[in-house]
Formats: sequence, C-alpha cells, structure tokens
Amino acid sequence: MRTVSFNDRTVEILNSHVIRIYKKKNDTSLFGLNDIEPEKGENKLPSAELLPDGSICISENGRVLFSEKADMEGYGENDAKASEIAEKEGHRTNESCLSARTRINIALFGKDDKIYGLGDKAAFLNRRGYEYVSKNSDEPTQHNETYRSLYKSVNYILVNHEDIWYGVFYPSSYECFFDLGKRASDRIVIGSEKGEYDYFVFLGKNPGEITVAYYSLIGPSLFTTMKFLGYHQSRWSYTDEEAKELVRRHTEDGLPLDFIHFDIDYMDGYRVYTVDEKYVPDFAETCEGFKKQGVGVITIIDPAVKKDRGYKIYDDVKKMGGFATLKGEEYVNEVWPGDAVYPDFFKKEVREYFTKTAKDFMKKYNVTGIWGDMNEPASFRGPLPPDVEFEGDDRMIYHDEAHNLYAEYMSRCLSDAFKEENKRPTLITRAAFATTGRYTTSWNGDNQSLWDHLRASLPQVMTMNLCGFFMNGVDVGGFGNDTTKELLLRWLEADLFMPYLRNHSAVNTLHQEPYSFGEETYEIYKKFLKLRYEFIPYLYTLQWEAYKNGTPMFAPLFWYYPEDEETLEINDEVMIGDRVLHAPIVMQGERRRAVYFPEGRWIDYFSGKAYEGKNAYIIEMPLDSTGIFVKEGAVIPLLKGATSIEPEKIKEIYVYRALEKGSNSDFCIPFDLHVDDGESLDYEKGIYDTVRLSVVKGEVVAEKIKNDYNHLGIAFL
Ligand code: GLC
Repeated sequence: MRTVSFNDRTVEILNSHVIRIYKKKNDTSLFGLNDIEPEKGENKLPSAELLPDGSICISENGRVLFSEKADMEGYGENDAKASEIAEKEGHRTNESCLSARTRINIALFGKDDKIYGLGDKAAFLNRRGYEYVSKNSDEPTQHNETYRSLYKSVNYILVNHEDIWYGVFYPSSYECFFDLGKRASDRIVIGSEKGEYDYFVFLGKNPGEITVAYYSLIGPSLFTTMKFLGYHQSRWSYTDEEAKELVRRHTEDGLPLDFIHFDIDYMDGYRVYTVDEKYVPDFAETCEGFKKQGVGVITIIDPAVKKDRGYKIYDDVKKMGGFATLKGEEYVNEVWPGDAVYPDFFKKEVREYFTKTAKDFMKKYNVTGIWGDMNEPASFRGPLPPDVEFEGDDRMIYHDEAHNLYAEYMSRCLSDAFKEENKRPTLITRAAFATTGRYTTSWNGDNQSLWDHLRASLPQVMTMNLCGFFMNGVDVGGFGNDTTKELLLRWLEADLFMPYLRNHSAVNTLHQEPYSFGEETYEIYKKFLKLRYEFIPYLYTLQWEAYKNGTPMFAPLFWYYPEDEETLEINDEVMIGDRVLHAPIVMQGERRRAVYFPEGRWIDYFSGKAYEGKNAYIIEMPLDSTGIFVKEGAVIPLLKGATSIEPEKIKEIYVYRALEKGSNSDFCIPFDLHVDDGESLDYEKGIYDTVRLSVVKGEVVAEKIKNDYNHLGIAFL
C-alpha cells in the first residue's frame, strides 16, 4: 500500500487494483466492507499525481487511467425561479448534485465513454447522460430510464474509455446523486449532502478484473440452493383453492414448478408471521403436501409490524424497546395493516428475535422460503423523517443513514434463520444496498406488463450482475397492468436464463399463469420451462462461479468481449456464462431479429446452424422460438426430464456439444461442473465435487478434479 496526500485529499493505493481517495472517510461500519489485501512490494503499484490545476491523476506506466477534476466550473446551477413556477403546475423539481455539500468530480475522457452500473434502474446498459439518486424507493408507477430512484442503492459504476476501464464505488448509505455526464458532458459528479468526500477506484485491464476487485470489497454474495433456480409462480394473492389447483395442474401435467409464492392476503390482518385460517385453512398441511410434490412455499414478509396491543410480535418487540422512535416516542406510519411500526433491525436483540420468529414460522407451517418486501422501508403516509431513530447496537442511527440499509439488516436476520439450521437461505428482497447481495437474492419490484419493461429487464439484470447481485430477476409477464399472450411468451423466452425466474402479477390484473391464455400459449410456455430445467446444472455452476469469483451469471456481451466495440451497447443480447449467447425477441409483432455475434463461431442450439462471429445476421424467430447460440465446441451439462429440482435424485447428466450440424469435429471447450448437495452450507467446508467435462475422440469424458462431496452415481451421457 502507498499513501499520498495532496492538500486536503489523500490517495491510498491499496493494491494495483483498488485505490481509495478521500478528504474524510465515510463510516462504513454499518455495512462492513472487506479489508483489501495489500500488494507485496510497491513497484507494481499505480502512481498518483497532483496537476497544477488541482486535479488528481492515477497512472500506470505513464498512462493516465483515472482522473479527478478539481473545479466545478461550467457545471450549472439550479434555476430557483423557474422551479417555483413549474412546481405550481405540479412538476417536480429534482434535487440534485447541484446543491450537495460533497461533490466528487470525475473526468470523462471522451465523448464516447460509456457508464454502466448503479443496480436496478430501468435504463439501458450505458447510463451516460442521466442522473440517478441512491435512495431506496417504493415506486409502483411506470419505471423508465429517467426514473431516478428505484428500490435499490448500489453506488457502483463501471466506466469505459477506449481500452481503459475503471470502476468507482461511493461507500455511503446516505442519499447520494450520480450525475453521469448529464449537466456537463466531460464529467461524472457524485454528490451527497451527508456523505463524505470518500470513494474507491478500481483499475484493471477489462471489466472482469474490475469486477473482481470490486467484489473483493463487497462480496461474497449469497450462494443459494439449486432448487431456487427452478420456476417460481406467484400472484397477489393466491387463495387456498387457487394454489392447490395450480400445483395440481403443474404436477399432473409435468409442467415444471419449484416454488409457489403466497402474497400478503395469507396473513391475519396483514400481521407479519401470522396466518389467516379462513383464507388459507390448514396452511401447514397444504405446504407439507406441496413439499411432497416437490413444490416449496415462499411467503411474503414485510418489515413493518401492525401497531396492535395483544398481537404477540408487537408486544414482544415493544417490550424490548425494539421499534424505531421519533424524539423518543414510538414512530408510527402506515403500511398494509394500517398503523404500523418499524423494527429496529440495527439492534442485535431485535435481529435475534426476528431470526427466531422466522425460523419458528417456517417450521410451524412447513414454509421453505421468505420473500422480504416493502423494506425500503415503504410508508403510505409520506416518507419517514430523516431523524427517526434506530438505537442500533452501539450508537444511535438516524433514518437518513439507516434508510438504504434497512433491507440489508432485515435480510441479515432472516438469512440467519436458515444458516442456523445449516441451510442456504431461500430469501428474496426488494430493496437493497450495494452489499446486500451477501445475504439474499433479489427482484426488481413492481414492473408493468409493458414491452418497454420486458426490454428493460435484460439490462436491469445484467447491470445487477455487474454489481455483484447475481441471483436477481424481474416479474415475468409484468406485475402491474394486463399482459397479453404474446407479451407473456416473449417475456418468458427473453428471461429464460434469468438467475431468478418468477411469474408474478398484481391483484385485479388478468391472470398470467402458464395456462391462462389457451392451449397454444400453454404448449409454448411449457416447452420453454422444460428448456430452462435442462440448463439448471449449467446455471447452478454459474451461480457457484459467481459466488466464488464475482463472475456474472447474466452478463452483457462486453464482459467477455471488451475489445469488441460493437458489444458495448447491446441491450438485448445476453451472455449466460462464457459460452451461451441468448438473443430473444423483445418487440411486439417481431418474428425475426438481427443478432450480433462476437468473435468465434456460434452454433444455433436448436438447428445446429453455424454463424461466423464479428457479424450480424437476421434470424427467424417465430413466436415459439428464441435465439440460443453456443460457442462452437463448448460442452454444456444438461438435465433431462426434471419438473422440480431434487439434487440427490440427479442420476444422469447429458452433455451437449455445440457442433455444426453434420460435423464430427473433436474440438471441445471443456466445462467444470460444480456438484454438491444443493442446499446445505457444507460447501463452505469444501464439501463439493468438480467434474471436468470434455470430449475425446467423440466420447464424453467426465474427470473428477475435486472429489470431497463424493456424489456417486451420476452418469454423464
Ligand atoms: C408490493 C410488491 C409486490 C406485491 C405487493 C403486495 O407491491 O412489490 O410484489 O405483490 O406489494 O404484497
């Protein structure tokens, strides 16, 4: 490590990939960043230099890789008078970087620089020219690329200039702004009123090296169960009969299903961890019955607790002084149950209470997983004031600092409910901070049944993956508004390899279960669900690699081909690992589309037709088809015939080889398959197998290169 001080700023070069620049460090203790391993010897470290105009440059071998500008000249000002008039008509004046106390001013080197990152925004991959705000928000209206805050605050960006790549992380949970070359095209401005002048810079030759450096600070992210990769079906809210009918149809017809979700109406008056026996009678038996058929139950749980004397959870937590307060009095707002109060998850006693409550609830009702919602935290009677108090473990934390971390602390205690039983969490969250992927999977909230939202789902989940949130997805079919059969099918096709695959819809919208639109739609839906299940051993290994190395499961093309400029702004093609390229239809009425292939030869998974890379082709994709292409020679482990995921029952893995139709070439890109029990934490103790799959002289060869789980009896065909 090397530390250099320039006037009021300090540059800590922690190793050749991670640098911290600050005037005063943010207190990161609430989200605990990892220590960065210092590099041995200083000779390889980049250098920091102060220019006469006050700018700081970070260089390697004399080449500037990153630069912070000193002045804010030409940045613009708020026009207070214009805002006042506009507000009279109801226009919202956005708060912005313009008036923030802290402003970090990062140089953009060129007009074509690209800026990626910031988590779940419903935007394109390249977010240059927009401004976003990190403030977890419950936003059920229509999201689009100019929507400034969604549910998550992921203060990480990845920037590209020609062959230079760098990442920036702003480590503060206070509200902050990211002006991504919007007001001045030559800079990125990070602004915050309460956050300090303090940020990390990540250097590397390509996005891969930068992601690994960032991940070393915020990871590792949750490694969840194999079952979680199966299909989830949800709706606000299934009744008892609807749920049973759903599971019956799936199991009788061999239509894959691993989880059914119960939304808020299963609760007694929206009191968390209770069950309305009228709405879902004999819930424990129902869940047990589903489980026997391979279908796990996930119940929604919101953080806020109904203010209701006599309701055990309210009384217990009240007794321990475990709710947020304002000026010392219990703070009350409104969520589904009416008057509601907010547990102080920042306090150990409260976390332990909810860990136990969740554990007991899941045991009592045979529930497999928890879906954490409304944890921004949401509030129907206006936002929580900034000075709402959380007592915390060892200091008072006010809402303005706690807000973006509330979901993280809720997820922490829920994930313990699984871990204490040597189980991997089956846990989902809506809100998150940059570090929350360590505890839970996530989805991106209330989208709508719109083609725009289908299109946005790909860059959204790719971006979440770039930010270290691998197990992420959106509501397939769209949550709000009514879907159509074409939209539903194209949505399933497009999101087929999304790490978290759930169809979910809002109350009072058209039903969108696979069988809701007649026979033709049903058959196509079923065909694609089966295809998803074929790929589960492959996806599971990708999840393992993501957890171990920070490699995205659902990546933009540039992650693998950063030198190919064509890939830098492809929003509608996705790399699933290093060998599968998915190019779905995302436009209404389209039956063919242009597909760009990066270098190499690519084989159509369905027809065996070969395409030469560095070219675009128009490819036919009727309604029952999507574009799946595999790098020539690559092998992929497939599971045949499964309709729910039970790892111990997997006895055969079929090895697919990407070869041009009619070819019998022996060329092979091997694959290291991860095998373990799929649900316990034993992998942390190294109990897993790695099987290298390759092809020699036309024969599949499966070689165990690690054999600590010793799962016998899988045949590789
Ligand atoms: C929120 C969630 C949505 C859920 C609804 C009712 O809007 O985002 O998924 O269905 O609340 O619980």
